[in-house]
Amino acid sequence: MTEKITAVKGMNDLLPDATALWRPIETCARETLTSFGFGEVRTPILEKTALFVRGVGEATDIVGKEMYTFEDGATGTRAGTLVSLRPEGTAPAVRAAIEHNQLAQGALVRWFYLGPMFRRERQQRGRYRQFFQVGAEIYGAATPQADAELIDAAQAFLSRLDLGAITLELNSLGDSDCRPRYVAALIDALKERAGDLCPECQRRLETNPLRVLDCKNAQCQAVCASAPTIDSFLCDPCRDHFARVRQLLDAIGIAYTVNPRIVRGLDYYTRTVFEFVSHETGEGGLGSQSTVCAGGRYDGLIQSLGGPATPAVGFAAGLDRLALLAARRAQAIPGPELFIAPMGEAAILKALQLAAALRRRGVFVDQDLRGGGLKSQLRRADKVGARFTLVIGDSELDSGKAALKRMADGETREISLDADAIAAAL
Ligand code: HAM
Repeated sequence: MTEKITAVKGMNDLLPDATALWRPIETCARETLTSFGFGEVRTPILEKTALFVRGVGEATDIVGKEMYTFEDGATGTRAGTLVSLRPEGTAPAVRAAIEHNQLAQGALVRWFYLGPMFRRERQQRGRYRQFFQVGAEIYGAATPQADAELIDAAQAFLSRLDLGAITLELNSLGDSDCRPRYVAALIDALKERAGDLCPECQRRLETNPLRVLDCKNAQCQAVCASAPTIDSFLCDPCRDHFARVRQLLDAIGIAYTVNPRIVRGLDYYTRTVFEFVSHETGEGGLGSQSTVCAGGRYDGLIQSLGGPATPAVGFAAGLDRLALLAARRAQAIPGPELFIAPMGEAAILKALQLAAALRRRGVFVDQDLRGGGLKSQLRRADKVGARFTLVIGDSELDSGKAALKRMADGETREISLDADAIAAAL
């Protein structure tokens, strides 16, 4: 037998049972975000690598080791510009906003996007190399109201999906004024116990010390437990902003806990950062990949990518993880409303005409395209879960009438072989 070629590890096929779970999630995202005034953007999957090096940060795991990068040259050549499959959507959306002059002085822009992202991560439940995000970004508002409204949009989306217990964790990462003071104090504290850190964190201590706080290694966590937290280092404007965001969330009834150890894996954040975490346990839960949605404020990114100084705040939710949670309450996909079983050539023609006419009226009609005897066709009707069946043979063609059978209770009624009459009887 010829050897099978399988999918790339960590990149999943979504078969009809899965897409039936995904579609309502995507619809909910579109409807919720539209009601908050976000317009949809679609940017390319491939971007210049420099966008992420500058936007997300060279020292991050995402840019340092997880991007799919290659050279893209003129037709037929490989040499040229370095491009990457996008690992996230924030930097591409900002690039598009700058490129299309959407950020003129005083502009207020709300955008959302939905699509695949790519990171060469170790695959596990809820963590894939191709995964899907729905993201929302607000450009042009520095106010705490923007943070609160953005978090409210994420919360509204998640709560409409009814995915079990999900909590919101909140932190402030300060700004270019106060964060360096915190990072210096953190480095001092971590250096004292550097020998207890995992090799990866010893490296992070030099390249991206905040990320040590995020390490899952138990020994690293023990070291971090005694390290200083950022809350006592925030400058007055950052402290006031954070207090006001919490006050506004309280006012609109959004529950949260402050977690001073949230640092995020991307370098562009300033001030508010947040994560929505699922608490579903057991087989239907997400295990260690329990963050379903995350984001924060990034007031410096737009300028650092060549745009006008523009404050911004956003989030992205992982659709694969939301679909895993939704699968716990999956319902069977509904079967056809009508199954037509024709016997004989003339009946096949009539069945095709009726099916075509009913489908144009929006009715879900099925037939056994393999043909076969009446018994096997009706077995198929059972298997696909048809609500009604209609058998057409020579005598039905002669009389122009047939028996429409309701499968749930076997009740039959005589009906004209006419699409309008059948549609009305279903
Ligand atoms: P992120 O935390 O890297 O943030 O990703 C957001 C969400 O995407 C995660 O919470 C998770 O649900 C999902 N996700 C990330 N990586 C994977 C993976 N390998 N497999 C499955 N799901 C994954 C961002 O990407 C930022 N751009 C969010 C943002 C938007 N910040 C401001 N605006």
